Amino acid sequence: MPLCSQVSVAILGATGAVGTELLKLLQSRNFPLSRLKLLASSRSAGRQVSFGGENLTVEALSEQAFDNVDLVLASAGGATSKVWAPKAVAKGAVVIDNSSAFRLDSKVPLVIPEVNPDTAVSHQGIIANPNCTTILMAMAVWPLHQVQPVQRIVAATYQSASGAGMRAMEEVKIQARAILQDEVPPTEIFPYPLAFNLFPHNSPLNEQGYCQEEMKMVNETRKIFGTPQLRVSATCIRVPVLRAHSEAINLEFAEPMPVTTAREVIANAPGVTLVEDWQANYFPMPMDASGCDQVLVGRIRQDLSHPCGLELWLSGDQIRKGAALNAVQIAELLVAKKSIKPAQALASY
Ligand code: A2P
Repeated sequence: MPLCSQVSVAILGATGAVGTELLKLLQSRNFPLSRLKLLASSRSAGRQVSFGGENLTVEALSEQAFDNVDLVLASAGGATSKVWAPKAVAKGAVVIDNSSAFRLDSKVPLVIPEVNPDTAVSHQGIIANPNCTTILMAMAVWPLHQVQPVQRIVAATYQSASGAGMRAMEEVKIQARAILQDEVPPTEIFPYPLAFNLFPHNSPLNEQGYCQEEMKMVNETRKIFGTPQLRVSATCIRVPVLRAHSEAINLEFAEPMPVTTAREVIANAPGVTLVEDWQANYFPMPMDASGCDQVLVGRIRQDLSHPCGLELWLSGDQIRKGAALNAVQIAELLVAKKSIKPAQALASY
């Protein structure tokens, strides 16, 4: 087996919003590919996609799809991953899964390379890419947490349509056109019109009234930080932005965290850019974060209601650092650590 210098990769969900970005990143970051396979549903089979000057043909997902594949980058939804990721592992591939299917499985590392890279090498075949809002929040909070332990996080999210996939982004544009022409906006992907509107994230609610997206922020942050007792509370809202999520985050530290220290920490943290022009009232915006690898953080200020509290605001590209970029960074980490393993060492799921 491989091959840590040249890797045979399959993208599962290659025609989707994240899959499309994965393709761009593998190319722009010169990922050491020996072969690239594009997999999607039978709807897309036969479609031609250009990659590095070549035309690749999209294949329908099948039992044979993972033959001779070292690494699968999966972004075709939880139900597809649940069934197909174990099959890929059984064939000897390592799967970096962008869905929520395995994130809280104790056998599965949940990895943000800037936060917990060392956990990646303990994988047993599947590595999970965290939820997008969780990644963006962790990128800003983790470096502060290294200086002064965070005891409580309260977050409100402003999530773009891209989180619900390519068809959802199209739906918002169609809805906007309809509303501007005084027509009733069609709804297919989202339960309500998102254009010129917003609504709480429509993932299923638990008995305490929290939706799945909010609970991902709670449970995944705890797992990634290695702090099972960390207090986290979130309110997730879908907003009529095409791409890039934003978040208002309130942090409570064990001791006061001076604003100047927090700014310095954020300014020097990997994968994060401090964006603050107080004169111009210019701070992170999803329009600036779209297509950007860095998470933009700013409006760092003292919480007036608590001596150990801090407020901050961020925008980050959900498709890039919130999904595809993080997955490719994990893949690069595995290549660097020679941690793409043969089948017999892998777990059954
Ligand atoms: P397809 O384009 O053929 O439907 P997005 O998150 O942007 O909606 O994209 C989802 C991706 O996952 C697409 O590439 C989609 O392929 C793929 N996909 C969805 N369901 C399946 C499935 N059952 N088997 C394989 N690929 C799937």
